[in-house]
Amino acid sequence: MTRTLSLANLRKNYRLDSLSEDEVASNPFLQFQNWFAQAIDSKLPEPNAMTLATVDTNGRPDARIVLIKGIDSQGFTFFTNYESRKGRELASNNFACLLFHWSGLERQVRIEGQVMKVSEEESDEYYQSRPIASKLGAWASEQSVEVKDRSTIEAREAKFRKKFGDTPPRPAHWGGYRLVPDAIEFWQGRPSRLHDRIKYFRLSDHHWRIARLCP
Ligand SMILES: Cc1cc2nc3c(=O)[nH]c(=O)nc-3n(C[C@H](O)[C@H](O)[C@H](O)COP(=O)(O)O)c2cc1C
Repeated sequence: MTRTLSLANLRKNYRLDSLSEDEVASNPFLQFQNWFAQAIDSKLPEPNAMTLATVDTNGRPDARIVLIKGIDSQGFTFFTNYESRKGRELASNNFACLLFHWSGLERQVRIEGQVMKVSEEESDEYYQSRPIASKLGAWASEQSVEVKDRSTIEAREAKFRKKFGDTPPRPAHWGGYRLVPDAIEFWQGRPSRLHDRIKYFRLSDHHWRIARLCP
């Protein structure tokens, strides 16, 4: 039996919470930390998963999920292969966007800015904290490159396992990026599609302008 999907009627009325200019933190990092803590406390599945959007040299957009691994007053950090598709795109245009969707809280956060590589020390430190399988994976996978079959990847993993044993060094092609934001928007779903959207624009290192956007 075929199941008919009625997409046009698939919608939800959001009513869990609200967001106002008066109640948000004056610094968006603080506001983000508050919401992130709530996403974790709410036991949402993978609250640390975010969409990373980049563009290629032709201005063609591209997006994929990565995990956030650090938040500080500089920006938002994630780790990946520098030679992957995203790595190549960021090398040619380092403007990017991060997006969180915390469905269970009816929230979305959009983070725009420029991406820089983190220091070698920071990448080393995180790499060394990873489980051995993940460490070897960074060697085994030529991320985003076409490969004949799965066994080719598994053979590469076995090769590096033999070569490095339990102590693989961080590959030079693998490390962290930090997105340094110049704008961050917090979206809270509200009834009747009159959602709350509060956007921060960076004026200088520690000063942000706060505006409300129409939903
Ligand atoms: C939940 C989830 C978490 C992921 N986390 C990462 C990550 O932290 N780093 C990473 O390189 N890829 C991660 N991936 C895989 C990426 O989405 C993507 O497939 C990979 O990075 C290759 O992307 P690219 O070809 O655009 O460079 C994750 C995927 C999912 C679904």
